[in-house]
Amino acid sequence: MIIEVEGLRKSFGDVQALRGVDFSVDEGMVLGLLGPNGAGKTTAVRILTTLVPPSGGRARVCGYDVAHEAAAVRRVIGLAGQATAIAPDLTGLENLQMAGRLYHLGRSLARQRAAELLERFDLADAGGRQAKTYSGGMLRRLDLAASLISRPRVLFLDEPTTGLDPRSRVGMWGVIRELVAQGTTLLLTTQYLEEADELADQIVVIDHGVVIARGTSEDLKDRVGGDVVEFGVDDRARTAQALEVVAALGEGTPVLDGTGARVQVRAGGRGGTVLVEVVRALDAAGLPVSGMALRRPSLDDVFMTLTGHVAEEGGTAPGPGGRRGRRNSGRRQGAGVGAGASGSADKGDAR
Ligand SMILES: Nc1ncnc2c1ncn2[C@@H]1O[C@H](COP(=O)(O)OP(=O)(O)O)[C@@H](O)[C@H]1O
Ligand SMILES: [Mg+2]
Repeated sequence: MIIEVEGLRKSFGDVQALRGVDFSVDEGMVLGLLGPNGAGKTTAVRILTTLVPPSGGRARVCGYDVAHEAAAVRRVIGLAGQATAIAPDLTGLENLQMAGRLYHLGRSLARQRAAELLERFDLADAGGRQAKTYSGGMLRRLDLAASLISRPRVLFLDEPTTGLDPRSRVGMWGVIRELVAQGTTLLLTTQYLEEADELADQIVVIDHGVVIARGTSEDLKDRVGGDVVEFGVDDRARTAQALEVVAALGEGTPVLDGTGARVQVRAGGRGGTVLVEVVRALDAAGLPVSGMALRRPSLDDVFMTLTGHVAEEGGTAPGPGGRRGRRNSGRRQGAGVGAGASGSADKGDAR
């Protein structure tokens, strides 16, 4: 067992960020820690990487206790996160050399590994440019490269693709997959079921500091009922009628989404067939609908199934300044991938 977490708890004042979390990761495996904003993902990563002490429970990395053997833990891990540790005024190469010096690699070894990593992450041409000129995707790759300078056995990636445009996200997935193929043990946090599906062997779903589900992505998708056929009813007053019309189609009972505006029919593994059946049934009933779509299940679907509510932002005590409201980033996942929707911030990010 490379990572072992037992009854892990963390409080910040009144906020219980983690309330007794258990999971473990075998050597060479990828664990996806999946949850909405405020679930406690970053807190778990910060504890496992020795940046904050736990309030209770135990965590070990490569057999070393994170609370009592922090220095030993630090020698075997790498961390890349959303808040990048990249110095904007330094070049890509200088950033990596600096990371190497932090690990006492020695000047020539640091330079050699930096050059290798730039090459490997498609940054060789940009290596002489200041990091502040990099696109979002390039910065994430540079940050990831920096976390690998010490050749860590265990890598922690905190939301490695949040905020990236779809194309950079897919590029990043390729990079992460290569790392894993070389045997690195990985703990990755994400808000996207799709991302955990792409990368993780095992998924632990957390909400408000508690594990609410675990298993492979197939397990989770089975629980959700597979693909989802979704549509909006033009005349909101006829929503109940629409639910009635499609009631016998798909798997289980069709439901309304969190906004109450869209009908969702679980399609299991028969997405195309159910889609056609739904369209025919609505047409026969003379019910005008819009935005008909067949999509992969999202974190929202997992939450709806497991908790009966949509994933919400924020912790236990939504005080003033606490951001509330629908997390919407996961909902349109998938739809955009490959659609060529490239954010302007990532122009020139040729992956
Ligand atoms: N340093 C801190 N001080 C106070 N509250 C914190 C701190 N760090 C995290 N929290 C709270 O703990 C909860 C979990 O946060 P976090 O681990 O960052 O979640 P996630 O990474 O899943 O979005 C949230 O309610 C957050 O506001
Ligand atoms: Mg976080």
